[in-house]
Amino acid sequence: MFSNTPINVKKVKTRNRLIKTNIPAPGTIKILNSLKKNEVRSMHGQLPIIWNKAKNFNVFDIKGNKFIDFTSTIFVANIGHSNSTFKRKLVNSINNNLISTYAYPNKLREVYLSKLIKFCGKGFEKAYLLSSGSEALEACIKIIRLFALKNKKGLGIISVSGNWHGRTTGSQLLSDNSEQSNWIKFKNKEIYHLRFPYPWTLKKYNKTSLEILDEDLRNLSKKINISKKISGIVLETFQGWGALFYPRDYVKKLSKFCKKNNILFVFDEIQAGFGRTGKKFGFQHYGVKPDIICCGKGIGGGFPLSALIGKKKYLDIPKIGTMSSTHSANPIACAAGIAVLDELKSKNLIKASFQKGLILNKSLINLKKKFHNLIELVSCKGLLAAIIFKKNKNINQLVGRVCERCMQKGLLVVYTGRESIKLGPPLTISKEAIIEAVEVIDETINEVFNKNL
Ligand SMILES: Cc1ncc(COP(=O)(O)O)c(C=O)c1O
Repeated sequence: MFSNTPINVKKVKTRNRLIKTNIPAPGTIKILNSLKKNEVRSMHGQLPIIWNKAKNFNVFDIKGNKFIDFTSTIFVANIGHSNSTFKRKLVNSINNNLISTYAYPNKLREVYLSKLIKFCGKGFEKAYLLSSGSEALEACIKIIRLFALKNKKGLGIISVSGNWHGRTTGSQLLSDNSEQSNWIKFKNKEIYHLRFPYPWTLKKYNKTSLEILDEDLRNLSKKINISKKISGIVLETFQGWGALFYPRDYVKKLSKFCKKNNILFVFDEIQAGFGRTGKKFGFQHYGVKPDIICCGKGIGGGFPLSALIGKKKYLDIPKIGTMSSTHSANPIACAAGIAVLDELKSKNLIKASFQKGLILNKSLINLKKKFHNLIELVSCKGLLAAIIFKKNKNINQLVGRVCERCMQKGLLVVYTGRESIKLGPPLTISKEAIIEAVEVIDETINEVFNKNL
């Protein structure tokens, strides 16, 4: 998709960006080719830049070109890249000479879990630590199924079409992501999907989101006895590719439906949690309280850490020894988790995310007004945003081109491979850099679409 031929791009020098070489920078393609030789193909297809270091909201390549990072390595670096408290806590923990403890207790594990439970607030009493988001989803599916057995219910789970929950088998079954899940279409009679209430779906059927939800639940209840067969409903807090949130009443209704039918209500907060959307957790935007949340990405600030967090009566269903992992509560991961919580609090980063999000939102609304014939919608909550372009047959390619051109000008945005660009800088970014980044996007859309570069 992206060109591997270095081009002589216009040089850039601002406080936040520096482009002083051809892009891709000299030496990039050699490294990419070596990686392609030795690493699975599925890991490739990203923008041709070799990350050499990253500090706060900037990424530097191997030749010292400096980029504004609007990816946070896909919503991981919420507290900023190479945060000094984070590094200090990791180094201290390494110097303590305890790198791994399997399921044997360690002190950092005790400190972190008490801090984490306190951070999550009322209704979240226990956590199970893991290493990746997908693993947290797998553990969640396990809890739902054990809850089903305990309550003599069916093993069924409802999720939402187009939502994304990871790449392991169970998490991908939930996702119903049609592009890449042919391999997963073995006989699965236990996962059911609701339609996501996209604005264009509502328009197409001339229905409200509640009418769509009622219709889907009614149709499902013609096939199965929902209260007997369904034990969990899992929602991605927002649909990632387009930062698309559900209407509030849609989620409230599902929450009530879960209570009424003794169904566990779960949010996949892997992208949304830890301040990303201007609140601690994304579910707070809906005025509901899930029974369980799956967390990842920002929770570890870049260290492989994820968690399943929820009510004791659910998380303690698995018997002693039946839900554990070699790397669960690894001391270094716990040190990383502690640093993230400390930084969110001491730097007031959740409030910062909300306030800077207002600036980002305003700039994106202006962008939408300017390019109203190209942009379908913009969405922004806290420092999580997306620009969704109107569909046409070349749109994915053109949007990819926008991402590539932004990189050539010193801005990294999230390439989704479809008609959207996702934006999510570290919560520590300066207001000035937010405005500068949106100006770069503005200039680039103009070039790519109007001059068809
Ligand atoms: C919403 C959501 N859930 C789950 C996952 C899977 O997390 P991981 O890649 O850490 O396994 C992702 C990753 O992109 C995600 O965005």
